[in-house]
Amino acid sequence: MPEAIAKIPLRCKVNGKECRADIEPRTLLVEFIREELDLTGTHIGCDTSFCGACTVLLNGKSVKSCTLFAVQAEGGEILTVKGLMRNGELHPMQQAFADNHGLQCGYCTPGMMLSALQLLAENQSPSESDIRKGLAGNCCRCTGYQNIFKSVAAAAAVARAGGD
Ligand code: FES
Ligand code: FES
Repeated sequence: MPEAIAKIPLRCKVNGKECRADIEPRTLLVEFIREELDLTGTHIGCDTSFCGACTVLLNGKSVKSCTLFAVQAEGGEILTVKGLMRNGELHPMQQAFADNHGLQCGYCTPGMMLSALQLLAENQSPSESDIRKGLAGNCCRCTGYQNIFKSVAAAAAVARAGGD
């Protein structure tokens, strides 16, 4: 019988809530988010760091959560797509994607929005080229890139107007 793998404690904040769990050291951050916390809005597209569907913010920086072990988030703050709504209202980034047809099947959308949020945190007036570069690690298999770029530009305009 294979030996049981010793679990180690993990403590972090996810979408503003304190989380504690005992996990196997090999648990990927995306597995922790989806399987331990049931936050399945964070998607797995490739599991090889290519597609960006698993993107979340860790301490304000976008990371591909399939490329990190969950234990690397010890003591950190994670924001997933499920943490974007406030008081039952869509986050301006979500609203911008809805208003500008920035999604088709929606599989890439959570990762796109989290990468875009990091971009806007660094640059509230991104050019189209800045937006393209900011989203370069995120793939859309439906190929609706033009409307995604428009959505991010719209969210940037809201942010500049003080909407977020
Ligand atoms: S699932 Fe993480 S980059 Fe594709
Ligand atoms: S909207 Fe379908 S993968 Fe991007």
